[in-house]
Amino acid sequence: MVRTVFVNGEYLPETEGKISIFDRGFLFADGVYEVSAVINGRLVDYAAHMERLGRSLNELCMAWPCTREELDAMHQELIKRNALTEGIIYMQVTRGAADRTFHFPKDAKPTLIAFTQAMSLVGNPNAVTGIKVVTTPDLRWARRDIKTVMLLAPALGKQEAYEKGAQEAWMVEHGYVTEGTSSNAYIVKDGKVITRHLSNEILAGCTRRALMRLAKEEGVEIVERKFTVDEALAADEAFLTSASQFVMPIVEIDGHRIGGGQPGPVVRKLRELFLKEATR
Ligand code: PDD
Repeated sequence: MVRTVFVNGEYLPETEGKISIFDRGFLFADGVYEVSAVINGRLVDYAAHMERLGRSLNELCMAWPCTREELDAMHQELIKRNALTEGIIYMQVTRGAADRTFHFPKDAKPTLIAFTQAMSLVGNPNAVTGIKVVTTPDLRWARRDIKTVMLLAPALGKQEAYEKGAQEAWMVEHGYVTEGTSSNAYIVKDGKVITRHLSNEILAGCTRRALMRLAKEEGVEIVERKFTVDEALAADEAFLTSASQFVMPIVEIDGHRIGGGQPGPVVRKLRELFLKEATR
């Protein structure tokens, strides 16, 4: 199926969506993005994604490409035009196209593109079996709290994971897990969920935020602190969260089985709670 994509105000067949070779997203990774899930044709945690987009733009002194209402309408229109019932919407804003100079160009207009990807999220079979992760050094820059399109280090990490038969890589800095290449990282010990505190070192996940709220309502304790790889290997359970995976059990880290190699009760409960809310 030829998708309809959005490029700078126009809805076009995906084969016709084009941007300039001078776009700063392309030349400098000077852009930010968001990925929002769609279930039953409805966006999940969308307000949180837009809030984070605003923060990312602000941190990089980038202008909003259009009004929030126009962005909302664009998301709805892409769902409609692509008859998307389940999957994701990817959207990206860059500082725009201008002759190549490092400093910000004066008159560049932001570039805004968006597209859909249909995929099975709720019934993802990985959630039943759990996934494998490997650990890898965190090679990223110091502002991981900004959701930039500078994704080479995460892409290298994900590739390493795939080559080792795993689905995600947990990035490690000074012996502590920061986060996954495209997800936040959690372990469970003695019924308590442990996940790294928010800082410039990780992305503040929208799914993480929803999970924290749901866990609190359910009386599941979450401790926000960093944890080592050794602690993760000795954990009762491990899991990750992201907009495209929701709450995903991890059953193996660097070839070591976690929780007997089966998704544990805490992660199964948290996934169930998340899906209950998201499919309501
Ligand atoms: N990635 N940490 C990193 C580094 C991420 O790239 C992501 C999301 C997350 C989870 O954030 P959220 O729950 O808001 O999706 C954490 C998206 C899904 C991606 O790049 O495809």
